Amino acid sequence: MTSDGDPLERVRARIREVISGSSVPEDPGHSINTLKWLLKFDPRADEALQIAALGHDIDRAVEENKVARANFSDYDDFKAAHARHSAEMLAVILEECGIDDRTLVDEVFRLVLLHEVGGDARSDLLVDADSVSYFDVNLPLYRERNSREETLRRCIWGYRRLSRRARIVAAEIPSHNDELAQLMEEAIARAGELDELQSGSAAARS
Ligand SMILES: [Fe+2]
Repeated sequence: MTSDGDPLERVRARIREVISGSSVPEDPGHSINTLKWLLKFDPRADEALQIAALGHDIDRAVEENKVARANFSDYDDFKAAHARHSAEMLAVILEECGIDDRTLVDEVFRLVLLHEVGGDARSDLLVDADSVSYFDVNLPLYRERNSREETLRRCIWGYRRLSRRARIVAAEIPSHNDELAQLMEEAIARAGELDELQSGSAAARS
């Protein structure tokens, strides 16, 4: 079936088209790769999850409207604004492509809104696919644009939000070079230390 006839195919084609305009070079590959990891983690992932995987970072693709990191002092606040804007953009695309299934539209919106933090089994799955994909395809290009310190921070942040299962997968992804292998090793060690600190202070509070 051509993309003209199938609304969901039109959605996929439109997401691809918008993301191909991103100034972030890894964005098109990351979109497809996140879907790949989603289907590896859950081969039966439904249409809402698949669309959310493809479009979760669509905010970054339109330079003049994208949420700017420089406007936020807190990284998590920046990520929350990015997630909301991506969810809103996808809702418009779904509507423009003729999707009238309200349940599907609402679920794509909800999943993308939660794609940085998770909170239930389905959004956690998207978090895992997104984060593993960062280590699989984004990391070398991110490092090219950022300092080692910032890349390390980003790796620790990404690794800590993974499930136990996805941490094993991320740790086993072959590194692109020796520097990134060492950086990844350090990120995993630091993430473990921070997790221990956090569980220690949680135990102290209880
Ligand atoms: Fe992403």
